[in-house]
Amino acid sequence: MAKKLLLQDLVLRDRKVLMRVDFNVPLDNDANITDDTRILSALPSIRYILEQGAALVLMSHLGRPKGERKSKLSLAPCAKRLSQLLERPVALAADCVGDATLSQVQSLKPGEILLLENLRFHAAEEQPDSDASFAASLAQLGDVYVNDAFGTAHRAHSSTATVAGYFPGAAAAGLLLQSEMRFLGEHLFKPDHPFHAVIGGKKVSSKLGVLRSLLEKVDAIYLGGAMAFTFLKAQGHQVGSSLIEEELISIANELMALCQQRNVALHLPSDVVAVTELSPDAETRVFNIREGIADGWIGVDIGPRSIQQFQEALKPAKIVLWNGPMGIFEMAPFAKGTNALAQTIATLNATTIVGGGDSIAAIHQAGLQEKFSHLSTGGGAALEYIEHGSLPGIEALSKANDSRSENKARSSVSR
Ligand code: 3PG
Repeated sequence: MAKKLLLQDLVLRDRKVLMRVDFNVPLDNDANITDDTRILSALPSIRYILEQGAALVLMSHLGRPKGERKSKLSLAPCAKRLSQLLERPVALAADCVGDATLSQVQSLKPGEILLLENLRFHAAEEQPDSDASFAASLAQLGDVYVNDAFGTAHRAHSSTATVAGYFPGAAAAGLLLQSEMRFLGEHLFKPDHPFHAVIGGKKVSSKLGVLRSLLEKVDAIYLGGAMAFTFLKAQGHQVGSSLIEEELISIANELMALCQQRNVALHLPSDVVAVTELSPDAETRVFNIREGIADGWIGVDIGPRSIQQFQEALKPAKIVLWNGPMGIFEMAPFAKGTNALAQTIATLNATTIVGGGDSIAAIHQAGLQEKFSHLSTGGGAALEYIEHGSLPGIEALSKANDSRSENKARSSVSR
């Protein structure tokens, strides 16, 4: 991958910086942020930009509103949290494009911050080709563009990729993006061995493809969370009413065959904690997978025997990549598998890398954040970065060497 322009290469004094961040944070039912890691991770770039004497326009998505304005997915809680962290006002624009937003941006002074409302309230954010004017409107909101949204850099969206084209020689990687690229590149492009990957979570379909390329690098793979049920079903086990994706069963079979061919140890749960309704007060039962999960029961965590087996098998690992919780960890009774693995991985004599909002939230919940080598703000993004060696949000940035003169020339241009 060609070297990219960095935030530190940009001339920022008296300019407006349009920065894509990933404030896609977990929220509870009352729209309280339950884990602010992604906001904290953007602070170094935010502080740097303000210290350089620029005004800052931040943009992000939150959740998947699919082109509709959904008040529950407003970025208002993020504006409030950022303002607390920075101890200065952070205004929230009512929309991310439009005349009112443009005039709010035009009146911003150096040191001031405006957070745009959720980009995904517009369908064109995720489908840049459906309306090219959306990215063009975003581009009007800055003199230079910075991408610091590592967690979303695997999406070729208007704000992560298309918009960069409007800033020739002035589209740069933020500090978080840089540190993620550095750490993941250094440790995972040519990993030490044994390399073990622990994959869970609920975004099954988006992870199966990446698993294929991981299988070329790892010595062992552990599957938990919703991910595991599609594989267990593919092996012919009864999974009750657990979450599976029928159409992915053939891919699961293919991947299992690949594990055999490549001599990769595949660890699937041998027992599962299940409930009949998704409530923290629900009665739980542990099912042995060989006997199957009874009809009407939903798997919500890996069981005690699986925990022990996973813990034992992880011991020789020199590098561990963990992505996605082992169960519905947001409900305390179903967090045992995730917590137990977090404790185990934290104490391994290995380079330990955790990716993804949910896994990081689980690690914070367990107070183990200092014990890991690297907490990546990207879940899918980290996996795809390892797979491809780059991401659309990185590719779209200006090259390092066509940067500085152009960037300096633009310093006199005011939009
Ligand atoms: C994430 O949480 O993985 C990123 O913010 C991307 O979100 P998405 O999977 O909804 O595109």
